[in-house]
Amino acid sequence: MAILNVRQLGDEILTKKCKPVKLITPRIRQLVEDMYDTMYESGGVGLAAPQVGILKRIVVIDVTPDPEEGEEIPEEEMMRYTMINPEILESSGEQRGYEGCLSYVGMSGIVTRPSHVKVRFTDLDGDEYELEGEGLLARCICHELDHLDGHMYTERAEEGSVVSNEELAKMQEESEEE
Ligand code: NI
Repeated sequence: MAILNVRQLGDEILTKKCKPVKLITPRIRQLVEDMYDTMYESGGVGLAAPQVGILKRIVVIDVTPDPEEGEEIPEEEMMRYTMINPEILESSGEQRGYEGCLSYVGMSGIVTRPSHVKVRFTDLDGDEYELEGEGLLARCICHELDHLDGHMYTERAEEGSVVSNEELAKMQEESEEE
């Protein structure tokens, strides 16, 4: 298990366009494993290779819902995806909501994303998949693929909407009291 250093907003590497993966080597497999370790350690739902300093088109996502207490989610129901060279084929609808990023720790901002996307990618075995996602999965796919082209959610966030998670919690508490 290896926890990688996650680059933070302001690091130039996060502004670069990533190159496609041509061959899935043992090194790529190790990178993917380390990306999962790093993502889980930080409590994230997605991580893109440039966030750990590698300019390759690789993304890991896990938006599996938290299991009920004492329950375990079977492997086939897990919403965990390793995407090599992902490409959005179609997107539709709209969702507006808060989004955060492991490269801007402790902050969130309001971003409008498609509510439905269709993505094509290769997995670690070199098999090609098409996947349709809605809700959090659609948001996550858009967010992570943006990283591969050197974009952070902060560029898309509504002006003035990026706040610390403490501020956000306070705002939510206050709106509940109203
Ligand atoms: Ni991010």
